[in-house]
Amino acid sequence: MKLSVIGTGYLGATHAAAMAEIGHEVVGIDVDAAKIESLRGGTVPFHEPGLPELLAKGLAGGRLRFTTDFAAAADCVVHFVCVGTPQRKGENAADLTYVDAAVAALIEHLPVGSLVVGKSTVPVGTAERLAGLVEAAGSDLAWNPEFLREGKAVQDTLRPDRIVMGVTGERAEKLLRDVYEPIVSLGTPVIVTDLPTSELVKVSANAFLATKISFINAIAEVCEVVGADVTMVAEAIGHDARIGHRFLGAGLGFGGGCLPKDIRAFMARAEELGVDQALNFLREVDAINVRRRARTVDLAREMCGGSLAGARVGVLGAAFKPDSDDIRDSPALDVALAVQQAGAAVRVYDPYAMDNARISFPTLAYAASATAACHDADVVLHLTEWAEFREMEPSVLSEVVRGRNIVDARNALDRERWTADGWIHRSLGRRSI
Ligand code: UGA
Repeated sequence: MKLSVIGTGYLGATHAAAMAEIGHEVVGIDVDAAKIESLRGGTVPFHEPGLPELLAKGLAGGRLRFTTDFAAAADCVVHFVCVGTPQRKGENAADLTYVDAAVAALIEHLPVGSLVVGKSTVPVGTAERLAGLVEAAGSDLAWNPEFLREGKAVQDTLRPDRIVMGVTGERAEKLLRDVYEPIVSLGTPVIVTDLPTSELVKVSANAFLATKISFINAIAEVCEVVGADVTMVAEAIGHDARIGHRFLGAGLGFGGGCLPKDIRAFMARAEELGVDQALNFLREVDAINVRRRARTVDLAREMCGGSLAGARVGVLGAAFKPDSDDIRDSPALDVALAVQQAGAAVRVYDPYAMDNARISFPTLAYAASATAACHDADVVLHLTEWAEFREMEPSVLSEVVRGRNIVDARNALDRERWTADGWIHRSLGRRSI
């Protein structure tokens, strides 16, 4: 099938390459000429394992191309809208500027009888509003939320847990089933529903995941007071199949371009709908998450003898999570900045996110390696659990630091190994050793 994908960021570029991989002829369209140029040349403009290979394959096979010209959508049957919905500046609500602009630009070139499919995360009710515009142009609108995780985007797109189709009629369902047939035939569950339900599935999933993380982080706060170990609590409760182990990783909490802004937009939408009470708990989920960042700064301060002024701090990690170079709402950079503002000399190292970090946080100092970041450090902060840090021999840092003090804010290091090498190890929700 001939498909267009509007927006070629984390979601769109992955979706376009994956759709070419399963046999479609795909054109990716974006208003950002630099991004399009990069993708055309086979370079993914962000770090996503497996995507460069998929892109190269699609380009070489001639099934995948990229352009800034919306007219390229004119000979496509199905059009996926994959643009961003960031948090509005100074507000909790989502900014729908890009979605509205993408749909408006698409409508200019939309052949009658096409299907426009929204994949962006939007406040419930958006799809119904856009359906009116698309139907007036003689086409249909469906909503097909995306559940991919950064760092695992390729796998999540080609082998998703489920496919959710919000549709208004049989024709839209049939077209979407045709698009996804190679994935559905692998046994992937398909949920066909209406537009508002499909929008709610997405925000509910992210709200649930955020709640699960903040739940265990709330328990971590209690553990810190009573000297209990949150990682053991998580391990033990996770064996109950109703609870499960995943997303019970206590530590610095969630960041990124999705969970934080999605729970806020969900609360803002609930308020508009007059059901704000129903989602009041998300305020607490957000507050617990933000408190973990402050607690990490406190631990760094305590390890420096009560004041960060004049201390040297080595920061390991800048990305909001490992295997991604995304620094949007990164807890790691938030902490690095707060520690610097408290008077410390901070040097940050991340295997992939340095370029992005430098642009958004130009006042922080960056080092070319973990050892360079930790040179002469009084305390080392482990803030993003990259494999490079998890597998690091503590002795490598022992030789360069001034004090063997480490805060493992992700509970991801083998603390016995670190303490055996003479380090004082502190973490969130666990006793210091
Ligand atoms: C999230 C969802 O997991 C995806 O299903 C969804 O499609 C995506 O948002 C989206 O809406 O586009 P993502 O933001 O890529 O994906 O990252 P996650 O893997 O969910 O991690 C989010 C944050 O939670 C990270 O900062 C991570 O470090 C943190 N986290 C995760 C924890 O603190 N503890 C955990 O146990 C798990």
